Amino acid sequence: MINDISKMPDEFYKGKKVLVRVDFNVNIQNGNIGEDYRIRMTIPTIEYLTRRMAKVILVSHLGRPKNRDISFSLAPVSKRLSEILQNTNVRFVDDCVGPQVKQKVSEMKNTDVLLLENLRFYKEEESNSPEFSSELASLADVYVNDGFSTSHRKHSSTYGSAILFKTRLAGFNLKKEIEYLTMIKEKPKKPFVLIIGGVKIRDKIGALENLLPKADKILMGGAAAYTFLKAKGFKVGKSPVDEEHLPWVTKSISKYGDKIILPVDHVVSNSLQNHSIQIVSNNIPDDMTGYDIGTETINIYSKEISENISGTLFWNGPMGFFEVSKFANGTINIAKSMALAYWRGSNTLIGGGDTLEAMKKAGVSEKEVTHVSTGGGATLRFLAGDEMPGLGVLDRE
Ligand code: ADP
Ligand code: 3PG
Ligand code: MG
Repeated sequence: MINDISKMPDEFYKGKKVLVRVDFNVNIQNGNIGEDYRIRMTIPTIEYLTRRMAKVILVSHLGRPKNRDISFSLAPVSKRLSEILQNTNVRFVDDCVGPQVKQKVSEMKNTDVLLLENLRFYKEEESNSPEFSSELASLADVYVNDGFSTSHRKHSSTYGSAILFKTRLAGFNLKKEIEYLTMIKEKPKKPFVLIIGGVKIRDKIGALENLLPKADKILMGGAAAYTFLKAKGFKVGKSPVDEEHLPWVTKSISKYGDKIILPVDHVVSNSLQNHSIQIVSNNIPDDMTGYDIGTETINIYSKEISENISGTLFWNGPMGFFEVSKFANGTINIAKSMALAYWRGSNTLIGGGDTLEAMKKAGVSEKEVTHVSTGGGATLRFLAGDEMPGLGVLDRE
């Protein structure tokens, strides 16, 4: 059992600098934050620590920038955080290591919150560099992980820096995710149906290796579906394919073919600029890219979802390029079917940064889902029983 922050006596935190790894990887467009669930879910941990007179240093990544790219800045998150934490002194510093950061940390008073700039402005974060890890660790006295959704990564902030601390605890959001998802992992109400879409094909297909034997059915959509369609011999045009996993996918289809449900039609386009679209069945023409599931697929998937009354449904990954309204139909219909399944009594889980954004766009509220998970890839990995470096590093009883 992982120790959470309530394990330590209240006095332990007084005046201590606590480095909290959160996952503020939220959808930001033109400086505006969309769905802020991942931010809101860290409030209990932040406030627990500030009420015990700690100095809270928050670290996170945002997106996948190649280097320092200001469009991936966490500054808008800091603004949202200070709106939510009205009586707390929330500050932002536009770097995450170095003398300027050290200076800001040394100026912190008890109960202050300081958000550091995007960790991925340094490639050393993802390479788990020992130097970068010790720079991060030198900022604080205690390590806390409240970013369940990034705990499948072996990066400096989730792993390399964590092991340098004597005390490494779980935040409340992370603990809650583990408790809920362990229940699902160990005893899912059957049939257990996964709905997988999105664009992080590598991560998701990787997790399916251990999930396929556990699940009763997998409905594939989004960019993740094309690798499966190609493996089955369909033409996928210019749609993205994970060539590396193609042999594994081919093998899985022969072993678990009856569990894997694939789209039978697609919304395709040859240009994102003019948004001219067509619906094609089965094969996608050579000069076209698939951007959403088609009408027939929506009908099949919606029925599978909303009629799974006694079981468990987990949805991660939009069914298409939902940010463009012409390609949002599949995703919106899946979100609505998930809500209907919930009202009919099914156990529903929805997770992933973009999937939560899509759920909001579809007008489905958090109250219409049994458990809204902050994690996408991480939740899939956890349910699959895969190794989670960011969890393995935390203190246990
Ligand atoms: P999550 O954050 O929920 O785990 P991902 O990050 O894997 O999901 O994927 C979300 C992204 O996938 C969205 O930005 C969406 O536009 C994109 N996407 C889904 N299907 C397609 C597609 N067919 N073509 C291009 N992008 C797609
Ligand atoms: C997510 O959105 O799934 C997490 O924030 C992890 O992001 P990553 O896949 O870029 O590591
Ligand atoms: Mg995403």
